[in-house]
Amino acid sequence: MESLYTKYRPNKFEEVIGQESVVRILKQQLETNSIFNCMIFSGVSGTGKTTLARIFANELNEHLGLPIEIDAASNNGVDNVKQIVASASERSIHSNYKVYIIDEAHMLSTQAWNAFLKTIEEPPKYTIFIFCTTDPHKIPETIQNRCMRFNFTRVPSQLIEAKLDYICKAECANGININNWRESINYISRICDGEVRKAISMLETCISYDKNMSMEKTLIALGNLSYDSYFNLINSIIDGNINQVQLIIEKLYNSGANLKKFVDLFTEFCLDILKYILSGDIQVTKLPAHLEENVKQAIGFNNPDKYYLYFVDKLLELKNMIKVDNNEKVTIEIVFAQMCRFI
Ligand SMILES: Nc1ncnc2c1ncn2[C@@H]1O[C@H](COP(=O)(O)OP(=O)(O)O)[C@@H](O)[C@H]1O
Ligand SMILES: [Mg+2]
Repeated sequence: MESLYTKYRPNKFEEVIGQESVVRILKQQLETNSIFNCMIFSGVSGTGKTTLARIFANELNEHLGLPIEIDAASNNGVDNVKQIVASASERSIHSNYKVYIIDEAHMLSTQAWNAFLKTIEEPPKYTIFIFCTTDPHKIPETIQNRCMRFNFTRVPSQLIEAKLDYICKAECANGININNWRESINYISRICDGEVRKAISMLETCISYDKNMSMEKTLIALGNLSYDSYFNLINSIIDGNINQVQLIIEKLYNSGANLKKFVDLFTEFCLDILKYILSGDIQVTKLPAHLEENVKQAIGFNNPDKYYLYFVDKLLELKNMIKVDNNEKVTIEIVFAQMCRFI
């Protein structure tokens, strides 16, 4: 079955969310017919690099022919590039321009880039290269200097929330009976780190869990704790209630949740509270605005900044400790007990 994020991949500039400056410059190129031959699309995974490369190629060729897509992760050798370079000099028979989309470009070997260099210095007029990458610093500088660079940013949560809402409605119109998604998509849009693909995948996980959605089911489907449990946990730590803390960890462990992910999310939760202490503004955090009262309760003592800095510090240490640990539960229990005693 086709995944939701493939099904709802934008085909037009107008359907892309965020990336306004990239879209603007790409459109300008098309309008003024001044096309850069070599471009680097760099930035966060799942934010529209491949999507915009395809849209641009399609518009450029007035929907004739298809761009040539190459996955550099599996074609990273010098011979692969030599083949590309040889075919790049021949004009396309289907369309005006020959557009190459090289995905995961940072995987190309040094020799492979060297084989590219000459062509990138003097590209055939009707050949366009778009290099997509999450790690632009791994691309040799000689190449970077000869390409126009576009930076893809994380997409704001409000735009992602609106997109998820659109998808739910479209699915309903297709006869799939989803309901009660509002709270879930609000939550997902906050925890997806501005990555659209990740958000749509999470939504799909929740829908496959139960089409009759609820916040509770969303948390179960994603293996996450509820905000209530996080507040319960942090308040127990502050009260020094080791028993209660161990019970919460035990319950989480028995539910089969991923404990490493739990530590990640709990670290972010404490960091969000720290941000609130420093700014006094719930909007700078990922936490839903209606939880402001709970946050105030969790910081209602002297010098909370000192304590939350300590918690975050401890949790970061814990995160590193359990990275390669197969028995992370014990380590987590020890560190949480220490946190209860502020050691
Ligand atoms: N900016 C965006 N606007 C709308 N949908 C997006 C955007 N970015 C990603 N997506 C969704 O995520 C999927 C993967 O996006 P893709 O362009 O392949 O990401 P990248 O190449 O940056 O890793 C798309 O099929 C689309 O459904
Ligand atoms: Mg991609």
